[in-house]
Amino acid sequence: MKLPLPPLPTALQPKPKRPGEAERVKPLDHAKEAGIATVDWVDERTSLSGAARWLMFRKVPKGTNWFYTLGSATLFAFLSQAVTGVFLAMYYDPSVTHAYESARHITNDVFLGEFVRGMHKWGSTLMVILVCLHMARVFFFGAYKYPRELNWVIGVVLLILTFVMSFTGYLLPFDQRSYWATVVGVNINGTGPLVGPFLSDFLRGGAEFGSTTLSRFYAIHMLLLPGAIIGLIGAHLYLVARLGTTAPPWMKAESHEGIREESI
Ligand code: HEM
Repeated sequence: MKLPLPPLPTALQPKPKRPGEAERVKPLDHAKEAGIATVDWVDERTSLSGAARWLMFRKVPKGTNWFYTLGSATLFAFLSQAVTGVFLAMYYDPSVTHAYESARHITNDVFLGEFVRGMHKWGSTLMVILVCLHMARVFFFGAYKYPRELNWVIGVVLLILTFVMSFTGYLLPFDQRSYWATVVGVNINGTGPLVGPFLSDFLRGGAEFGSTTLSRFYAIHMLLLPGAIIGLIGAHLYLVARLGTTAPPWMKAESHEGIREESI
């Protein structure tokens, strides 16, 4: 039998309407209605709400802690790099004669240029640190095991691409430090077995460092790699949503005694 519900406390009971109040619609309610109507309009034409619900509303295993935020932190660092990078590209000139001067111009003359360039520079270091910490979390929590091996492999490619991003970006200011550091880096690549010499020739755009090297690094840095990283992050997150996150290794699986007995 269903018990009758207790009455609402007086404070929570809706106040009786004053004469003429029914017609008055508050501006906030108007705004809420407009928001809901817009979402409904889009959903009716795209059916996106199902996908959004599948992606956003999911169960999280017990014991999930702050270490699980490192992947999202890496994602945030990448997005910040993408946004600041777009603004830097508006002023940067990838020619050997103008690159250094355009970077100097960004720092000294452009409004908030020093700030945006600083964010991009420190953001790159942060992203490298975060991606390594995220990988360490995945490793020490055993989250690379079945059925997440493919996501680990995608992660390894993302790690390499993040490093190549840093390497190609380092040349762009085109000052003495960035030039010689890149010469050393490309030469180290050249010592690799089999593919090494081809790789260093490819990076230089020939046998010598020249103007092609800079434009090649720039194209790789701001077109090729961001495109590849965006695609791979999409696949990475799809697999995270599809497979769910792993519970920490110290959490024991709950035993469902009753279910087990019945199924025997
Ligand atoms: C641009 C780089 C990366 C981004 C933006 C990224 C993002 C994410 C996010 C948001 C998650 C879900 C939340 C979490 O578990 O932290 C995740 C999970 C995961 N990531 Fe990454 N990740 C990146 C690189 C890597 C690397 C380098 C590896 C390993 C080599 C990796 C392997 C994994 C695995 C196996 C999972 C599933 C973890 C689980 O099920 O508990 N990721 N990643």
